[in-house]
Amino acid sequence: MILAIETSCDDTCAALVDGAEILANVISSQDEAHAQFGGIVPEVASRHHLELTVPVVEAALREAAATLDQVDAVAVTAGPGLIGALLVGLSSAKAIAAPRRLPLIPVDHLQGHVAANFLAPEPLEPPFLCLVASGGHTLLAGVRDHAGHEILGQTLDDAAGEAFDKVARLLGLGFPGGPALQKLAEQGDPEAFELPVAMARDPGLDFSFSGLKTAMVYLARDLGEDGVRERRADLAASFQAAAVGQLTAKLKRALKRGGWEALALGGGVAANGPLRDAVAALCEERGVRLKLVPLRLCTDNAAMIASAARYAPSLPYPEYLSYDAFPSSRPPLAPA
Ligand code: KG4
Ligand code: ZN
Repeated sequence: MILAIETSCDDTCAALVDGAEILANVISSQDEAHAQFGGIVPEVASRHHLELTVPVVEAALREAAATLDQVDAVAVTAGPGLIGALLVGLSSAKAIAAPRRLPLIPVDHLQGHVAANFLAPEPLEPPFLCLVASGGHTLLAGVRDHAGHEILGQTLDDAAGEAFDKVARLLGLGFPGGPALQKLAEQGDPEAFELPVAMARDPGLDFSFSGLKTAMVYLARDLGEDGVRERRADLAASFQAAAVGQLTAKLKRALKRGGWEALALGGGVAANGPLRDAVAALCEERGVRLKLVPLRLCTDNAAMIASAARYAPSLPYPEYLSYDAFPSSRPPLAPA
């Protein structure tokens, strides 16, 4: 049985997983704490993790009717993410593992999103293509085995969810903005405004969302406050169509290029209805199997971290005591 802790962003999560079976998967969202600031404040997130990690682990043990004595290994998200937030989870995991001489399994958060697909019921076996789109990342992963993934494409600037959140804010919607923007867009015309489909002519599989966001800012400026209020639904629908258009265009290209027979979606943006519909249509057209994990496994959670830990190297006691979190998985930027 693996106990996993995930605190890379603003959700405090703990899970108990036995093989591919989820015994408990507890998520304490901090959305309310950050809503007043219109976005995630790293220091506020760290402080909440500090208060919530122990109760959330206790809740997971209760839910699984288990005790720490039954745990064989402790898994934890080591990065990428907010460094302060990561450190709370990592220190907590060490504090649980060390006195019991349990091994520690550091997990890459993005591999966690991929590994959500390995969980019961109906685990998806590699090879498959996986799109992870959330508030912090937008990544196209080629998954050929359980242990890792190849990055085929990623965002060059904003994450997809970040773009939804920022545009939602522009339209006066709360945080996180994705679900509210989708709801508003239902009453709007997706063709009301012509927006750039970013990277359309780029032959690669990378994404870009900052141009779309900037186009929305200019549109809003030109329309003025009253204009924006009047056309909110049209603005939301047009933005959503452009964002979904870019994601599906790249997916289509990646499916064609890699000859993939299965596609999985992960990350909070995978909850988006029009994206799900567009991807379902694309998969049908290409005869590709589509795997959509339940929403609780799409957004940040610790069950996916435990799932990745099953295939990741574990560190024996006391080797992990000096193990450090990593805030970014990107290579250092080359000098301009
Ligand atoms: O995976 P997640 O819970 O957390 C991380 O960011 O890691 O993803 C949250 C993101 C937010 O940006 C939120 O606005 C977006 O997912 N999101 C959506 C929808 N539901 C959540 N974006 C578009 N449409 C949705 N229905
Ligand atoms: Zn995530």
